[in-house]
Amino acid sequence: MELIRQAAAMAAWSGERLKEGRRLALVPTMGCLHPGHAALMARAAQLAELVVVSVFVNPMQFGPQEDFDRYPRALEQDCALASTGGAAALFAPEAGELYPPGFKTKVVVGGVSEGLCGASRPGHFEGVATVVVKLFNLVRPTVAVFGEKDFQQLTVIRALTRDLNFGIEIVGHPIVREADGLAMSSRNRYLSPPERRSALCLSRALREARQMVAAGLKDCQDILTRLEAQLVADPLVVIDYLAVVSGHDLAPQSRVGRDSVLLLAVRVGQTRLIDNGYLIRED
Ligand code: PAF
Repeated sequence: MELIRQAAAMAAWSGERLKEGRRLALVPTMGCLHPGHAALMARAAQLAELVVVSVFVNPMQFGPQEDFDRYPRALEQDCALASTGGAAALFAPEAGELYPPGFKTKVVVGGVSEGLCGASRPGHFEGVATVVVKLFNLVRPTVAVFGEKDFQQLTVIRALTRDLNFGIEIVGHPIVREADGLAMSSRNRYLSPPERRSALCLSRALREARQMVAAGLKDCQDILTRLEAQLVADPLVVIDYLAVVSGHDLAPQSRVGRDSVLLLAVRVGQTRLIDNGYLIRED
């Protein structure tokens, strides 16, 4: 596996492979790779001959009060994991490499990036969209794989890929969970043992919402009110938002249908965690 640190070197590496007629799959990450990322790489390897993993803690998608400085960085381990996972290249630029002095461009995706995490984290999706566009242009993949844990992010990236005619297939990979149900995330390592226990409120809420729907409850406000009452009972948990939306366009719903997704964002102590899932499961 090749470790690439420069944007120009990344573009040249991809250019050579594309000239040879090879297809590339991109797995964009912020590093500190865990089994959830390994699953994205495995999926990517099924979709194209060569997998490129990017590791970049993107300053543009963090707010001034957010965890950019303490976000975990583990490049050596990431190289080992990406290499074991079969990646052909790991692209890990420094911030100044992607945002040199004078960089002033922002990609703004309207509609689906407003509300939910977009409301709680102003500027977040502009940062995500901008860096994803840069990665698409440098790597020029045929397909890119993203985790469904960031459901709104995935919707934003689908929108920008379509609206800007990238012609890249966007594949969402199902959430990978710990044995007890917690969705895997690099931020889970911030949690103290009591917070780690409280963090299970997310997957529990999702499970209970599905049970309510299976028992015949279809009114979204009713479901959300019940979930809210359970979540606020834990003093370590502060709700950011709970919503039932259409999985297609994130439009809020009043009645549960086949496309209904429950989106959850909470703060457990200082750590912001998100989770989601369809309320009616096919399996
Ligand atoms: O999901 C992430 O890790 C990041 O938001 C992404 C897509 C790599 C962009 O920085």
